[in-house]
Amino acid sequence: MIITVASFKGGVGKTTTAVHLSAYLHTKAPTLLIDGDPNRSATSWAKRGSLPFKVIDEKQSARYARDFEHIVIDTQARPQQEDLEALVGGCDLLVIPSTPDALALDAMMLTVAELQKLNTQNYRILLTVIPPKPSKDGREAREMLAGAELPLFNGEIRRFVAFQKAALAGVSVSEVSDPKSGMAWLDYKKIGKEILS
Ligand SMILES: Nc1ncnc2c1ncn2[C@@H]1O[C@H](COP(=O)(O)OP(=O)(O)O)[C@@H](O)[C@H]1O
Ligand SMILES: [Mg+2]
Repeated sequence: MIITVASFKGGVGKTTTAVHLSAYLHTKAPTLLIDGDPNRSATSWAKRGSLPFKVIDEKQSARYARDFEHIVIDTQARPQQEDLEALVGGCDLLVIPSTPDALALDAMMLTVAELQKLNTQNYRILLTVIPPKPSKDGREAREMLAGAELPLFNGEIRRFVAFQKAALAGVSVSEVSDPKSGMAWLDYKKIGKEILS
């Protein structure tokens, strides 16, 4: 399975999503994370610590891809529309993360509008960095997207400091010593299961 993580906006959890979907899929079958962002955030994450799966530069992908069952591709923010067509054509599933705030949701809706023009079904929206109660942002975003009949994961990723600790330490959130690390990992595990089901 080839999964690409993309969005028009930066800072919505693309790299965090790519790393943790790779970590989940790797528990099932050999998984490769291709770093398609010139900022090399996923590569730096791996270099700061250790991740259980291989992370490579996109320029190396032709050489490595055949040895892996699952491939996850992290991308830079804001692909041009023609990029989007190539991105969605090059994977089995395009995962579009969005935080539940108006700016990010607007940017995500632009991406989705472009995808609808391309007449593709290979994409799903992932709500990320959901603030805890009493904030209603997550629920309101979900209702808005469901009302618009857009493809949305049932699961969602809550806001946990453990994710930032994981990025700093260069590990998966499941390896971080933090009281919420188990809950944080569970959020991505659920998404991984939805993808493979
Ligand atoms: N679920 C989350 N909870 C808390 N912080 C998060 C979460 N997901 C991402 N972050 C933090 O938000 C920032 C942007 O995330 P990142 O994955 O790098 O986004 P992108 O790749 O879209 O730019 C990083 O500092 C990251 O640690
Ligand atoms: Mg990134």
